[in-house]
Order: sequence, then structure tokens, then C-alpha cells
Amino acid sequence: MAVRHFLTLMDLSRQELINLTNRAIELKQMQKSGKVYEPLKNKVLGMIFEKSSTRTRVSFETGMIQFGGGAIFLSPRDSQLGRGEPIADSARVLSQMVDIIMIRTFEHEKIETFAKYSDIPIINALTDRAHPCQLLADMQCFQERRGQIQGKTFTWVGDGNNMCYSYINAARQWDFKLNIACPEGYDPDPQLMQEASDHVEIIRDPIAAAKGSDCIVTDVWASMGQEEEQRQREKDFANYQVNDTVMSQANKDALFMHCLPAHRGEEVSASVIDGPQSVVWDEAGNRLHAQKALLEFLLVKS
Ligand code: CP
Ligand code: NVA
Repeated sequence: MAVRHFLTLMDLSRQELINLTNRAIELKQMQKSGKVYEPLKNKVLGMIFEKSSTRTRVSFETGMIQFGGGAIFLSPRDSQLGRGEPIADSARVLSQMVDIIMIRTFEHEKIETFAKYSDIPIINALTDRAHPCQLLADMQCFQERRGQIQGKTFTWVGDGNNMCYSYINAARQWDFKLNIACPEGYDPDPQLMQEASDHVEIIRDPIAAAKGSDCIVTDVWASMGQEEEQRQREKDFANYQVNDTVMSQANKDALFMHCLPAHRGEEVSASVIDGPQSVVWDEAGNRLHAQKALLEFLLVKS
């Protein structure tokens, strides 16, 4: 059977994603009740990080340890990846040694090339285009708190970035409505918007976009690799903060999500992220369980 990769949410079917979320909830309960479950004994995850990370690294590494396997951290600074060894060569070499690889990098094309030359599953742990692992955690979080996702309304406030891209794919896969409030010039990829046109709509004004929403989501104004644009973006996104006024437009029981790390006083006010509607710590915690379900799916079940 052909090896399965997880480069975007579209690599799995709708049913596979639903099963994955249900399984993540089950694995979380098992972990919390102290049940030892080691389906990946002696299996090794290679973790390639070309950008910083706290949550992604710790959740993948912990997941592999809990599953009875291990993980190896690789960065360009201390591997041949940083000295120009071709991606295709690295992929073929690592495929001989480890069982599965996760990659956090800049260009999405790089992870596609890596997957093309790899005999083992490749997981996207964030590229400039997409962050699908975070969406597994977010969807789990919503389901745990509010039940069915299908038919709900989410509002994205901020940059049409990698997280927004994955939210657009999530809207298609989990079948919810996604309002996108982004300033002009920061729209998501038009082709993606076209493909998802049944599920997504750009509503420039965050106040209008938040109306009737079940969940408000945001992310940093300047992503990793865009640090030099920070000043300009602070001006362009000045009206795109998720604050109490924006939250008050949403449904009373609306949740607030943010993949973290967050900048209080920029994309979100402290009152919202530290307030009663915020589920950001659950979201972060669910990275562990959602990715364990993904690892199990790619290595044991498919
Ligand atoms: N949300 C997320 O991916 O966090 P890290 O950058 O800390 O991995
Ligand atoms: N959009 C952010 C997400 C960080 C998890 C970034 O790419 O830096």
C-alpha cells in the first residue's frame, strides 16, 4: 500500500479526520487514567526543525515516549541539512533509519519534495503555507467543549497566513462556515478561497465577521520569517485585535482560540485570552493527543 503523508488536511478523507478526532479524545482519556499503551515500541520519529518551537517539539517527543518509541531532534545548525545536502538525498537517507518524520520548515514545496522521495510517512509540523497539526488539536478542542462541528460558524481574525490556510481546509473537511476578517493585502491564497467558496467568506470588518460565531480564532500578525515586517504589520492590523468588543458580537457561548505563542495587546487583548471564553491551554494540550492519534493512524492503522 502507498505510504500516507500528512502535509495538509486534504491528505485525509473527511471520515478519517473525524475518526482521528474521536480517537484523540479516547487517547486523552486513556492517558489521563494512567493506562499504558505502547503501539510504537521501538519506532522512531525524526523531527526536523528549521524554525523555533515549544508546543510542537514537546508534544511530538512526549507522544513518542508515551507510545513506547523515541524521537530524534534535527536542526539545520547541527545536521547536513544546513550545509546544503539536497532534500531528496536527506529524505532517502532518513527513510532507511527512522519510521516517520515530522518537518517544520519555510517553503511548503520543500516538504512536498521531501515527501516525494521518502518511503516513510511525512508530517507537516508547520510550513509557510499550512499548519494542519494545530487544526487537529483545535477541532478536538471544539468537539470536546461544544459537540458537533458541522454547521457551526468560525471567524478568523487577522492574517491570511498558514493557520488561516489550514482553517480554510478545516472548514471544507469538517463542513463549517468560516468568516475571514483580514485587512486588504493580507488575503488568503485566492485559488484556495475559490476551492473552498462554499464554506468561506471574506468579511473585512472583524465586528461584522464575528456576529453569530461559535468560535473566534486569531494568530500573530507577523509569523516566523516575517519579523522585519513587524512594524508595518502593527499599522496594517491595528483594527484587527480580538478584544471584548469583537467577542461581544459572537454567540454568548463562543470560544476563543489561538495556536500560541500570543502577543497580548496586539492580535488579542489580555482580557480575552485570559478570559472565560478562551480555551488556548486546552488547545495546546490537545496537540499531544491529536498527534498521538495521527502517529497511530500513519504507522499502525493505514
Ligand atoms: N502552536 C505551535 O505550533 O506552537 P510552537 O511554535 O511552540 O510549536
Ligand atoms: N503563524 C504562526 C504560527 C506559529 C505556530 C507562524 O507561522 O509563526
